[in-house]
Amino acid sequence: MWIRDRRARDIPVVERFLVERDTRMCARAGKLVDALAHPALLAEENGELIGVLTYILEEKACEVLTIHVEDSWRGVGTALLEKAEHIALQAGCDVMFLTTTNDNLDALRFYQRRGFQLTRLLPGAVDESRMRLKPTIPMTGAHGIPLRDEIVLRREL
Ligand SMILES: CC(C)(COP(=O)(O)OP(=O)(O)OC[C@H]1O[C@@H](n2cnc3c(N)ncnc32)[C@H](O)[C@@H]1OP(=O)(O)O)[C@@H](O)C(=O)NCCC(=O)NCCS
Repeated sequence: MWIRDRRARDIPVVERFLVERDTRMCARAGKLVDALAHPALLAEENGELIGVLTYILEEKACEVLTIHVEDSWRGVGTALLEKAEHIALQAGCDVMFLTTTNDNLDALRFYQRRGFQLTRLLPGAVDESRMRLKPTIPMTGAHGIPLRDEIVLRREL
């Protein structure tokens, strides 16, 4: 497996990967963002796309917009996140942050194990996004948990 930056010619395959996971249009903090319009890291194995991380690089902070892998528990997510942290550090950022949802216990575990701290809870933010921005957000999320709230996690670099 190896990780590389997305190039212009990767756009169709990355678009398919994101659309299949309903994550191309990404709702968070009351805004809908097109993940495809931002830089991405691709994880590949034998020429196949097995993971995508999209991010927004600001002056001092790097936001992980989306991170998805084809098969969990193989180190792909960790490799993508480590590469994003490396890019953020090189760019002079001193913080990484991201938003996840209240049902995503796997992601909460994953990020906290990697040094991220829960810094903000936005109760009802997902309900709001479903109503105003992205009607395809399901009512029920992972583990049968009602999908309602956003949680912001942050890690100093
Ligand atoms: C969250 C997500 C990106 C994590 O990616 P992942 O590839 O499963 O993560 P990793 O495999 O790197 O790490 C997960 C665990 O597997 C372990 N692992 C890695 N390689 C392994 C291997 N070969 N054998 C056994 N375990 C392994 C890691 O050590 C880690 O455990 P730890 O946290 O106790 O250290 C992934 O689950 C995912 O795509 N989820 C769906 C989308 C999503 O929720 N995205 C986040 C939205 S905010």
